[in-house]
Amino acid sequence: MLPYTPMLRRNFFKTTAIGGIALGLSEGWLTSKASAAVKPIDPGDKGPEALARDEAFWQRVRRDFAPAPDFINLEYGYFCPAALPTLEEEIRGGRLINSRGSYYMRREMQDDLEATRNDLAKLAGVSSEEVAITRNTTESMNIVISGLDLQAGDEVVYSDQDYGSMVEALKQKSERYGIVLKQVAVPLHPESDEQIVDVFRRAITPKTKLLHVTHLINLTGHVLPVRKICDMAHERGVEVLVDSAHAFAHVDYQIPDLDCDYLGTSLHKWLCSPVGLGMLYVKKEKIPQVWGLMGDTHRDDGDIRKLEHLGTRPYNHHRGLRTAIRYHQSIGGAAKAARLRYLNTYWTQGFRNHERIYFNTPEDPARHGAIANVAIRGVEPEALSAFLYDNYDILTVPIVGHPVVKGVRVTPGVPTPLLHLDLMKEAMEQAARKL
Ligand SMILES: Cc1ncc(COP(=O)(O)O)c(C=O)c1O
Repeated sequence: MLPYTPMLRRNFFKTTAIGGIALGLSEGWLTSKASAAVKPIDPGDKGPEALARDEAFWQRVRRDFAPAPDFINLEYGYFCPAALPTLEEEIRGGRLINSRGSYYMRREMQDDLEATRNDLAKLAGVSSEEVAITRNTTESMNIVISGLDLQAGDEVVYSDQDYGSMVEALKQKSERYGIVLKQVAVPLHPESDEQIVDVFRRAITPKTKLLHVTHLINLTGHVLPVRKICDMAHERGVEVLVDSAHAFAHVDYQIPDLDCDYLGTSLHKWLCSPVGLGMLYVKKEKIPQVWGLMGDTHRDDGDIRKLEHLGTRPYNHHRGLRTAIRYHQSIGGAAKAARLRYLNTYWTQGFRNHERIYFNTPEDPARHGAIANVAIRGVEPEALSAFLYDNYDILTVPIVGHPVVKGVRVTPGVPTPLLHLDLMKEAMEQAARKL
C-alpha cells in the first residue's frame, strides 16, 4: 500500500489553504468587474537568489494563479497558464472588441498593436522595429526557415535534440530547394561550454549558411551557451537562428546578450501570456532578406510587420500580453529565473547519486531552468509517468521514441509550491522501490 493515494490527494486539495485560495480567487476574478491592473508585488531588496527561496513571496505570487485542484501540474513545459490579471485583461479585451466591432479593428487596433510591440521589444531589449508578434514559436521559426533564400547545396547545421517540427520544416526546405542538412549530437552532460561550441564548429564548412540552435532543449531542460555559439558562427560568416521557445522569460536574458540573427519564441510558455502568442525577432539589417510566409508585398522590405500579417486575429490576446509583461516585470526576470532553477534543484538534488534514479539534465544550475528529465534504470518512461499520476496525481510527460533522450520530463512552474515537489520526491522514492 502506498502511503499516499489519489483519493487522499483530491480530498486534500479541496480542504487545504492552497486549494481553497486558488478556487476562491478564480471565481472572484472571473466574475469581477474590477480593473485588471496588475497589483505590484513587492520583491523588497533581496537579491534574486534569496528571493527565489522566500516562500512567503512565492505564496503571494501563487495567489494570482488558479491551478485546477484535482491534479498536480508538473507539466508546465507545455504552456504556463496565465496569471489571473492577464486572463482578466484578455477576457475584458474580448468583451471590449466584441462591443466595438469593426470600429476597434479600423480605428483602435493598430495603436494597441504598436503599444504591445513596444512593451515586448523593451522586455526583449531590442528595437520594436525588430519584433513581430506571431502565434507561437512554430510560426516564428517557420517564417525564417521558409523565408530565407537558401540555394541548393547550402548547408544548415542543426542538432539531434532540436524540436521535431523545426526539424521537419528544415527537411521540407531540403526536399524543395536542395539545401543540405547536417545534424550534430549535443552531449547530455557537457564538461564545458567549449565542448558544445566545438560540436557546432566541427560541422561548419565553407558552404554553411545557417546554424539552427535550440536555446533550452525541451526534452531535457538543457540550456545551451547560445552567445558563445553565435560568436563562433559569426566569426565564420554563418548566421544563427535560435529556437528560444523555452528560454524566453525563463532564463534571464535579453536578445542582445545572445547576438543572434533570428529568434523565435512562444509567449504562452514562460511569459504566461494568453495562449496563442509568439514573438519573432529579426536583426534589423536582416529583415529585407526574409520573405514573409504570407504574400505581403505592400510593405517596405525592411519593415518587420511584413512578417506578421495574418489577417483578422483575436487582438484581445495582445491586451492580455501587455498585462503578462507587466506581471513578469513585477516579479523580476532574474528572480523568476532563480526560482525556476531552485524548483528544479529542490527535488532533483537528493537523487543525483541514487543507485537507480538518474537524470538526462545537466546538474550545473547554469545549464538548466525548471525542466528536468528523470529516469529509473530498467523502467520505461511511460511506466514511471503512469506511476506518478496513478499514485500521486502528478502530471508529467514521458519522452519516448526519441533516439537520444528517454525519460520523464518534469516541469514545475511559477505557481508550484514546494509541497508539490516534496510529493514528487516521495513519489520517486516509492517508484524506485516498487517499479
Ligand atoms: C524547443 C521548442 N521549440 C518549439 C516549440 C513549439 O512551440 P509552440 O507549440 O508554442 O509553437 C516547442 C514546444 O514545446 C519547443 O519545446
